[in-house]
Amino acid sequence: MLYSQLGTTGLRISQIGVGTWQFGDKWWGWGRGYGEEEAITAIKEAVAHGVNFIDTAEIYGKGISEQVVGKAIRNIREQVVIATKVWPTHATYNGVIKACERSLKRLRIKMIDLYQVHWPNPIVPIGQTMRAMERLVREGKISYIGVSNFSLKQLIKAQEALKSEQVVSNQVKYNIVERDVERELLPYAEREKITIIAYSPLAQGLLTGKYDPNNLPRDAVRKINILFDKNNITKLQSLITMLREIADKYERTPAQVALNWLIKKPEVVAIAGVKNPQQARDNAGAGEFKLAGEDIERITKIADEIRIDKTLSRLKVFLRLLR
Ligand SMILES: NC(=O)c1ccc[n+]([C@@H]2O[C@H](COP(=O)([O-])OP(=O)(O)OC[C@H]3O[C@@H](n4cnc5c(N)ncnc54)[C@H](OP(=O)(O)O)[C@@H]3O)[C@@H](O)[C@H]2O)c1
Repeated sequence: MLYSQLGTTGLRISQIGVGTWQFGDKWWGWGRGYGEEEAITAIKEAVAHGVNFIDTAEIYGKGISEQVVGKAIRNIREQVVIATKVWPTHATYNGVIKACERSLKRLRIKMIDLYQVHWPNPIVPIGQTMRAMERLVREGKISYIGVSNFSLKQLIKAQEALKSEQVVSNQVKYNIVERDVERELLPYAEREKITIIAYSPLAQGLLTGKYDPNNLPRDAVRKINILFDKNNITKLQSLITMLREIADKYERTPAQVALNWLIKKPEVVAIAGVKNPQQARDNAGAGEFKLAGEDIERITKIADEIRIDKTLSRLKVFLRLLR
């Protein structure tokens, strides 16, 4: 497994982590084909394969995700780094303190390793949220502070709002076809030694190669994901074909190639969401090899040539949800 440092903390985290939005969330199909047993085994399987970074959030499955993570890590707490998040409706000073206490209970741990602000709140000043975060550090309830979905400007504001701590990470959407982060955030993070935690690293399963225009996932999450629009997924087939070809060359899977492409820089860790132990094992394998520079470039080049249509009308979203 490839490991890197969380921000400037000295804490060693695996560059492949486990994402757990899928746990407890009906929109992902929780309870249909997978449930608590698969989720717990998936985490244990990932840890057995060198993964030590687990990401959850109070909002996932309305707390079920944190509970499941808590059960899974009961006997391996010391081996794992637990990251969770506070939802923007709890961004006030008291809101953050209380949300953290509830998360600690659900996770059944004494300290959260990385506590992240899930989304910026346009109404509550970031200074207020960060004061609460610093108190949580002082009280030993959290170790480090992170943010998520913060633009560069918002990240800088968050950093300035902290008096004695630092923002050690920013969790953002990042995969081969969704690379907005590369424009401003990634160069800044590299300079400032802030970890970029890449979410949706498999473009919600699309980059595994198992979906195509005639075989689309049926859950609500992906019905509203623009990439799964027939027109877009058709355009993306050239990239998927290349991922398959490169995967064959390395005797890996397309998912492993897609994840390994992301973690080419030590500042990036990828949290792949899983539904079962097989996926957890497959994804962990992405941290066991290194793509050659020329293969990284081939993937980047073909992705650059694809023009994703980003217009999805409200009517189309509505009709898709009815399907
Ligand atoms: N901070 C935020 O705002 C935010 C937003 C989104 C996500 N996240 C975090 O990031 C994590 C990952 O993002 P994501 O869940 O959106 O997308 P993702 O990791 O790109 O895709 C996850 C989905 O891909 C499929 N999959 C995963 N590994 C696979 C494998 N090896 N082989 C075949 N299929 C595989 C599974 O669905 P199927 O089997 O159904 O295809 C799984 O549910 C989340 O769990 C969450 O922790 C954070």
